[in-house]
Amino acid sequence: MPKVLVATVKPFAPAAVKQIREIIENAGYEFALLEKYGDPSDLHKAVSDADALIIRSDKVDSGVIQAAGNLKIVVRAGAGYDNIDLLAAGNRNVVAMNTPGQNSNAVAELAMGLMVYISRNQFNGTSGSELKGKVLGIHAYGYVGKIVARIAMGFGMEVRAYDPFLEDSIFEEDEVIRATSVEELYRSCRYLSLHIPANEETRRSVNYELLSLMPEGAVLVNTARKEVLDEDALARILKERPDFRYASDIAPDNGVRLKEEYPENCFFTPKKMGAQTSEANINAGVAAAEQIIAFFEKGDTTFKVN
Ligand code: 3PG
Repeated sequence: MPKVLVATVKPFAPAAVKQIREIIENAGYEFALLEKYGDPSDLHKAVSDADALIIRSDKVDSGVIQAAGNLKIVVRAGAGYDNIDLLAAGNRNVVAMNTPGQNSNAVAELAMGLMVYISRNQFNGTSGSELKGKVLGIHAYGYVGKIVARIAMGFGMEVRAYDPFLEDSIFEEDEVIRATSVEELYRSCRYLSLHIPANEETRRSVNYELLSLMPEGAVLVNTARKEVLDEDALARILKERPDFRYASDIAPDNGVRLKEEYPENCFFTPKKMGAQTSEANINAGVAAAEQIIAFFEKGDTTFKVN
């Protein structure tokens, strides 16, 4: 009977854990839970006899793969899998999957919330500005970007997007203006929402050249990954442009200093919380559990990323 370990430093909502457990146990598998662990060695120990692993942003590096002698599959309950060492997993024939789209609505709602919060001067009582009539640029038009576009249109924003990997028809169907270059996107949008994954090509790719293209009153919202932004460029632009604002649920490494120096211009939530809703936890957690069962029962590798 396969053993499925759910290992999350940042726990799922209890309702999600309950549903994951039920799915695993109804399939006749063993369920184990490790939450809020402090040290990687706790994960090494817990995973040593697991056949399957469900994680969130938890790091699955070569040490974890090595410690998991029985592991056949690891599912990242969420979108970004930059926390999994895909090479180490592949070398041991461990299948890695994600659960695309399952937590996107939660992230998109937070992106819009951050836009409102920073535009209203962090609710400090002074006159801020409205989103209606402003131009929003969406950098990468995937699951989250599409939902942000739809909600932003409800706010009365004009929506543009840049994504070189998609057909024109995707933008046309959603009535989103397609930017033909990333520079054009940053130049034409006062509001910018980042939805690019963190990988070798995107690391620090949102750089000074791009940021400095943004028009007067620029607002940059990042619910993607801190790694995609060049943090020195952010510090430089905040210093040079008192009109520039940045809001994120993932504080940059220099975030404490930036918040001290530019309290009105930047805002970071204390913890990464884009996907922190019961609904997102249930959607992503249940999908992960079901994908594991489909993998063991039918050899289904639909969401394999390695
Ligand atoms: C994701 O990649 O799915 C999001 O960043 C959510 O990450 P989390 O599960 O760690 O909150």
